Amino acid sequence: MAEPKKLYIKTYGCQMNVYDSERMAEAMGGAGYTEVTRPEDADMILLNTCHIREKAAEKVYSELGRFRDLKEARPDLKIGVAGCVAQAEGAEIMRRQPLVDLVVGPQSYHRLPEMEAKVRAGGTALDTDFPEEDKFEKLARRPKAKRGPTAFLTVQEGCDKFCAFCVVPYTRGAEVSRPAARIIDEAKDLVERGVREITLLGQNVNAYHGTGPKGEDWTLARLIWALNEVDGLERIRFTTSHPNDMGEDLIEAHGACAKLMPYLHLPVQSGSDRILKRMNRSHTAEAYIRLIERIRAARPDLLLSGDFIVGFPEETEEDFQATLDLIEAVRYGQAYSFKYSTRPGTPAAERAQVDAKAASERLQRLQALLARQQREIQAEMVGRDVEVLFERAGRQPGQMVGKSQYLHAVHCLAPDAEIGDIARVRITGTAPNSLAGTLL
Ligand code: 5AD
Ligand code: SF4
Repeated sequence: MAEPKKLYIKTYGCQMNVYDSERMAEAMGGAGYTEVTRPEDADMILLNTCHIREKAAEKVYSELGRFRDLKEARPDLKIGVAGCVAQAEGAEIMRRQPLVDLVVGPQSYHRLPEMEAKVRAGGTALDTDFPEEDKFEKLARRPKAKRGPTAFLTVQEGCDKFCAFCVVPYTRGAEVSRPAARIIDEAKDLVERGVREITLLGQNVNAYHGTGPKGEDWTLARLIWALNEVDGLERIRFTTSHPNDMGEDLIEAHGACAKLMPYLHLPVQSGSDRILKRMNRSHTAEAYIRLIERIRAARPDLLLSGDFIVGFPEETEEDFQATLDLIEAVRYGQAYSFKYSTRPGTPAAERAQVDAKAASERLQRLQALLARQQREIQAEMVGRDVEVLFERAGRQPGQMVGKSQYLHAVHCLAPDAEIGDIARVRITGTAPNSLAGTLL
């Protein structure tokens, strides 16, 4: 038998890219590849890229430059670019960096094995189509190998919201939801392989409208209730959501569905109505705060996470203050914040930019407030009992590390526990990005 070829995949950006990379590695497994952890060992290098901010996109070109020596030493090394930079820039990537043999957009991954054969034969391959077929159905099934206790599962892709700053509607295309039965089958398969917690992924996951097993229209809540019935699956999460798609049934599920964890990532981006309007978010700050109140009424211990952009075109100090006020009103346990980054082709790119120094200074103030809230909410956990799903062994002998239902990392001594166990733990202390506890 031929020596297996070696594939090195580097993943940038969001959790959906993590999921896609896993699926691509499996598909390439069918084409005779095993995965390696160092580019030096690879016959093929694949960068699964992110286009969301300028910095993320530029990283790809500096990484590609670093492969020049490798390729000179081994001309048969093949280099591919996948993901959102591939979709956004297409053939331009090969012009700018002739080392690249293959460019594949996120909707064409099922064509990767054919494309690999083409580049092996000495050609180049480019595919940035948005084909009709379900790529996941066409991609090789996940093999039955044992795996860790948590997994991502893409249920929806693309976005129809067209926020004025965002490339996602262009790189991932229009909203498409996978049929419910396929998702449930994939979840059962993951559970058989040791998975106990599944995070359902979508660029706009709560806009999920998939076909149910009898041809009916299923919402995300309906899908979560069906997954709640899967034996052996203990925890369900989902990300990322848009406030305007937070349906009544999904709010109720937060209060009633036992396996749905009390954690919600619900980006608002800004607390200023003027900026929200210019961002094309289609809701006000007040509407968002009322929505949070309704979700918290269903699930009082919900831990909220958000995304914020500072320095969006025309943002004034007053607009920025409104964002700080919203954060004070909501209280986030976790948050991601970014300086606005101009993305070519998006509506906001044409507008008057905020001074870079002012934007940096706002980001610092915003992050200080978010860090304070995160610290306070972590400190409030001390003395409380949580359920921890152990994901790995800790550094000290007998120590385990896992996540609580609120997605806090928790360390505790549990010499008899195994990865995948869920244990009751009393929180005894807090560190910058984790909690410490004792097993009950
Ligand atoms: N500049 C800065 N941040 C952005 N995001 C999306 N596009 C941009 C941009 N052009 C942020 C948003 C989004 C998160 C995934 O990335 O906060 O929710
Ligand atoms: Fe981008 Fe999210 Fe807005 Fe869609 S809802 S355009 S993915 S920020």
